[in-house]
Amino acid sequence: VRSSGGNVTGKFGHPFGYGFLHEDINNSGDGGIYAELIQNRAFQYSPNFNVSTAHYFPINGASLSIQFLQEPLSQALPASMRVAASKGTGKIGFKNEGYWGMDVRKQKYTGSFWVKGAYTGSFTASLQSNLTGEIFGSAKVPSKAVANKWTEHKFELIPKKEAPNSNNTFSITFDTKGTKNGSLDFNLISLFPPTYKNRKNGLRVDIAEALAEMNPHFLRFPGGNMLEGLTNDTYWDWKDTLGPLKDRPGFQGVWGYQQTHGLGMMEYLEWAEDMDLQIVVAVWAGLALNGDVTPQTDLQPFIDDALNEIEFVRGPADSTWGARRAALGHPEPFELNYVEVGNEDWLAGYPDGWESYRAYRFKMFHDAIKAKYPDIQVIASAATSDPAPEGKTTGPNTQNGLGFSQTPDAIGDYHPYREPDELVAEFSRFDNDIGHIVGEVAATHVNGATPPRWNGPLYKYPWWIGAVGEAVSLIGYERNSDRIPGTFYAPVLKNVNRFQWPITLVQFSADPKMTTRAVTWYCWSLFAHHPISHTLPTTSNSSYGPVYWVAGKDEARDGALVWKGATYNTTDGGSIPVSVKFEGVNAGTKASLTVLTNSVGDPYAYNDPFTGVNIVNTTTTELTAGYGGGFHFSLPQLSVAVLDTDVA
Ligand code: AHR
Repeated sequence: VRSSGGNVTGKFGHPFGYGFLHEDINNSGDGGIYAELIQNRAFQYSPNFNVSTAHYFPINGASLSIQFLQEPLSQALPASMRVAASKGTGKIGFKNEGYWGMDVRKQKYTGSFWVKGAYTGSFTASLQSNLTGEIFGSAKVPSKAVANKWTEHKFELIPKKEAPNSNNTFSITFDTKGTKNGSLDFNLISLFPPTYKNRKNGLRVDIAEALAEMNPHFLRFPGGNMLEGLTNDTYWDWKDTLGPLKDRPGFQGVWGYQQTHGLGMMEYLEWAEDMDLQIVVAVWAGLALNGDVTPQTDLQPFIDDALNEIEFVRGPADSTWGARRAALGHPEPFELNYVEVGNEDWLAGYPDGWESYRAYRFKMFHDAIKAKYPDIQVIASAATSDPAPEGKTTGPNTQNGLGFSQTPDAIGDYHPYREPDELVAEFSRFDNDIGHIVGEVAATHVNGATPPRWNGPLYKYPWWIGAVGEAVSLIGYERNSDRIPGTFYAPVLKNVNRFQWPITLVQFSADPKMTTRAVTWYCWSLFAHHPISHTLPTTSNSSYGPVYWVAGKDEARDGALVWKGATYNTTDGGSIPVSVKFEGVNAGTKASLTVLTNSVGDPYAYNDPFTGVNIVNTTTTELTAGYGGGFHFSLPQLSVAVLDTDVA
């Protein structure tokens, strides 16, 4: 039975990679992995979202209003908030409710805010309960505020007490007696807890740890639909995300909420660096979600922009954009081996998006990138199986749907969001195809869903049979890892308070106790923790199904031998006997067998953040090869397993 036998190291230089796509969907960036606690910190707005004081509440009757001052904080942040006494003098201020609350613990919070208007006195920054008003901690911030200039105030705040829940707010107050006319203007009000690896402007620790613990190999960013933007004027422009926060205008995103640009290009790169991830950077390719296509004659500036972006990531510190990166604190180039051109260009603006991508957009980007960076693996944003417009399924440049015949070194990108049965049915999908990444994959709809698939909702959370179906497809990809460098779960994070895509690897709210790894996280994590640098050919006395497998060895672990398997649709519902024999392994050799099963029996069961119960049962046993060198064990219906001779 084919199990690829690919010399993986020769082609991509790393074991098959498990990873994820990140874009800001489900408040997964702002209000998610980006650790900022203040919602609407800089009164940003865009064509789809009005500027407002939303998420702020007055203290002591203060009036809060948006101002467009003649001298704004910056060009990027033209709006600010005026806090004015409505009567008399005394302490006034505002509180911010955060992203559905704030986690308050006895740890160091780092804050800052900008003020315009003369003030003699000090500000008080506090974290308090929204229910009882109890103050958990506060800091006095001496005023540096003057009449005609924006002045930044920085502070640290260590609460004396831990809050019992996340229903808390952050406030700033000041005494109007010290002001000229009872009001001050505020902007860019920011508060960070400690961050992952202590990065400034960094990631929320518990969410980042949940991702890092999966042992991922890849991060693909910045989308997804977010990269494309709703229109050709409103895509995620990487340059808007660089440098001081006061120079980042924010962005309307594509998922129904205003975004801050706080999680920007540098933050993505540092995220990858801190988790030791290979990156796939997607560059904007002249197509937006509304179907706006950039004509061929206007495309060159965007190709130049993509080359600048690549230079920003991996150019030497004395190159134009490498120097910009160095000025932002990272003189060493980041490693960048994969660049994707656009996202799902066969889908938006169909058929013009597809036609223009095939006719000129992909090739123009591809050729320019390869000319400057021949070592970069360029990825097209569609798969050979993605549908071509009517009447265009054959012909010279329609081979593989997107004209890969013009760019033979390119690989494609496949996005199967499927029912579990469909993922299993596609087990051999890549046995005879060109290379791809599987840039987005998830079981999203239950088998035989009514109404079918995209006409109906996605399931509530990743669920067990979905996770096993997905595991079968992962095995199908990994056994073709001579042509598939890796696969990416998408989307990866969900804030349970506001989301549109319920199926994600990790769920969370402001309260870290809610941070929940989905059932599917356990399957991906198991496979990711047992890398295979070279797949091995296998023979078997049974064909694939109900057991699906891939075998290989890992050079980085002294040639450890690995077998990954999953069982799906056993006819009798009972256990399936499995014997695995590696050539050259003698009786007495040890191996560890890890098996994941569903502890509650219900194939629709999931890990619910509101109960905190993990339904995935993990058992690890040590096996010894018997006479003839075989490892003998049995696997129950709907299980996921790894056998690994690296038992050290
Ligand atoms: O992952 C959610 C969305 O699904 C992505 O933004 C898009 O690429 C795909 O259609």
